[in-house]
Amino acid sequence: MMAALEGRVALVTGCTGGIGSEICRQLAGAGAIVVGADLPPTPSSWSGAGYLQLDVTDETSWQDAIAAVDRDHGKLDILVHVAGIVVVEKMETTTLAQWRKQMAVNVDGVFLGTKAATALLRRSGDALPHGASVVVISSVAGKIGSPLHVGYCTSKGAATLFVKACAMEFSALGYKVRVNSVHPSGVKTGMVDHILQRIVDNGFAASVEEAAAGLAPAHPIGRMADPIDIAKTVRFLASDEAGYMHGSELIVDGGFTAQ
Ligand SMILES: NC(=O)c1ccc[n+]([C@@H]2O[C@H](COP(=O)([O-])OP(=O)(O)OC[C@H]3O[C@@H](n4cnc5c(N)ncnc54)[C@H](O)[C@@H]3O)[C@@H](O)[C@H]2O)c1
Repeated sequence: MMAALEGRVALVTGCTGGIGSEICRQLAGAGAIVVGADLPPTPSSWSGAGYLQLDVTDETSWQDAIAAVDRDHGKLDILVHVAGIVVVEKMETTTLAQWRKQMAVNVDGVFLGTKAATALLRRSGDALPHGASVVVISSVAGKIGSPLHVGYCTSKGAATLFVKACAMEFSALGYKVRVNSVHPSGVKTGMVDHILQRIVDNGFAASVEEAAAGLAPAHPIGRMADPIDIAKTVRFLASDEAGYMHGSELIVDGGFTAQ
């Protein structure tokens, strides 16, 4: 039986991170030709079909990356926006520079990348039964509020609505490109380690151990997510199995937001 993503070309940003590297593995495992992209230096964690240096906040960097994918592979069937940062800070003490940097990576990055890739995605999508697929890793923070995360929630909320508006516009224009978002809560990566430390720094917990102790029980399913829990969802959205999913939010949070 042919693998679900056999021969599809995928570009995954944030490919050296905890979630991005697992997404690369899952897509490659389903037969995709995966090009990972991240800030320099070259990663040790991902060595698939290719690696591109990409700063998602830079329009020229995106144009170069898409041109390289077109040159090397002639198409782009799947674009996964994983690159992201989190500023864990009280709103009153968040600097404008912190706010803008977070918006630049989490929102501008998604816009610039989708913009740069649309023509190639369209061309590729026309040849697929259910079109090309764009997946944005948003967050439960794009759905609900959280202390110390005002800027992060704002950025993920913006990315979530970008997905819906883009999906509507692509359909109105007749483009065969599906656009969806994925909303994890706590996933065991370096980002969560950073968040826990900042929770302590801000006086919301006495120690990292105390802050961490509340995480698993906060999820009705009884544990935090592993990156593979998120990556499997992305693999699904990228595939023809998700051919009727468009402008949707897939919440993958162990029940966190169902409470
Ligand atoms: N870990 C969680 O609990 C969690 C929960 C919900 C959503 N998310 C989201 O999932 C995504 C991945 O997070 P993660 O946990 O793997 O974090 P991570 O820190 O392990 O990975 C983030 C990656 O983004 C890259 N990146 C940052 N700025 C960039 C830029 N300007 N250009 C290109 N790449 C850049 C980093 O180099 C890193 O490889 C993020 O968008 C994050 O907001 C994470």
